[in-house]
Amino acid sequence: GSKSKQIKLVLLGESGVGKSSIALRYVRGEFNENGEATIGAAFLTKTVNVRGQSVKFDIWDTAGQERYHSLAPMYYRGAPAAIIVYDVTSTSSFTRAQAWIKELLQQANSQMVICLAGNKADMASEKRAVSREEGKDHADEHGLLFTETSAKTGLNVEDMFINLAAKIVAT
Ligand code: GTP
Ligand code: MG
Repeated sequence: GSKSKQIKLVLLGESGVGKSSIALRYVRGEFNENGEATIGAAFLTKTVNVRGQSVKFDIWDTAGQERYHSLAPMYYRGAPAAIIVYDVTSTSSFTRAQAWIKELLQQANSQMVICLAGNKADMASEKRAVSREEGKDHADEHGLLFTETSAKTGLNVEDMFINLAAKIVAT
């Protein structure tokens, strides 16, 4: 059968880490240097083929500013997939990502497939504040998928969505 499978996916992470940029890169293949902070949340969709199965992503790109935190459960509740984003040049964003991991493990559905993503991997190495190893270790500790991405260059963005979908389709 080739019925399309729908996957609700939520993007979470500190303001400015590049959640909207990742969504825009993935859905439209575009990048904007001066994107504006999201208000509330944005909704985007994309349909792709994953191992012969048609998959429609319903993507909720949430607002990272703290004043929107209380809205987040509306978006992650019942979602089978989440991407928790941090910025590899920002330790505070990595700390915030760890708090998101805790919140999802406590509050979200236990089957949720979560990917931890270190974004802005294109930035010069002297700007880097979180090593690949630190990110990967943290993901491994909680059994999460892990990748480093760049919404600017497109590095690993498509693969990240496909790997999430493949894991969900397989279960
Ligand atoms: P909120 O909506 O406030 O939660 O922020 P956000 O996580 O959606 O961040 P957004 O996508 O708006 O990106 C913030 C800034 O970082 C923008 O100026 C982007 O151009 C920039 N940016 C996003 N991704 C990357 C990346 O991979 N590399 C670089 N160099 N800059 C990026
Ligand atoms: Mg945004």
